[in-house]
Amino acid sequence: MKPFYVFDAYGTLFDVSAPVRQHAARIGEKSALLSDRWRAKQLEYSWVLSLAGAYRNFESVTQDALDFALASLSIKDKALRSDLLLAWKTPDCFPEVSAALERVNSAGAKLAILSNGTPSMLESAVTAAQIGHYFDVVLSVDQLERFKTDPECYRLATRYFGCNASEISFQSSNRWDIAGAAVFGCHTVWVNRSGAPDEYRGFGPDRMIRDLAGL
Ligand code: LAC
Repeated sequence: MKPFYVFDAYGTLFDVSAPVRQHAARIGEKSALLSDRWRAKQLEYSWVLSLAGAYRNFESVTQDALDFALASLSIKDKALRSDLLLAWKTPDCFPEVSAALERVNSAGAKLAILSNGTPSMLESAVTAAQIGHYFDVVLSVDQLERFKTDPECYRLATRYFGCNASEISFQSSNRWDIAGAAVFGCHTVWVNRSGAPDEYRGFGPDRMIRDLAGL
């Protein structure tokens, strides 16, 4: 067992489809498209802005992505926009998360979150899910003004724990994030919740699990 367990947040601990699902009755048949497009654009904006050296924080990227997703689906409902953004602040945790964190914690590992989210987004999500006590630290890339997969983002974890990358088990449901952590030298565990085919050949994962109960 590795001494340090570092977890991605959105998609890994928190269900990114929960905000739209909460309001699915109002959105109707475009719900699934809206949710997927919102998330896809949120990630695309993070990579493009980070590469261009034109950082804007994840909260702003999340709003811009939602605006694009709504416009592209011709949904013009201002109240829905603010309700969705509010729901993003307290997304549901996946059901197995608390028990998995408890087990890893009791086995003696030190735990951290490493996320693109801003400190305030992460604080409200962690507090609402009541999982804060499992973690030594919640690390946000915001202090670097860069997004994952920039290696400096993963270095936040080795610097915090004063360890080598190989001593970290990094868990993410995002395959691109696993690739970034693998390049950095972490042991990688891909939480393949959707049963997606593998990609990023040669860049992890060391293990694949279906959800965090497999940890
Ligand atoms: C996170 C997003 C990108 O870093 O999943 O939490």
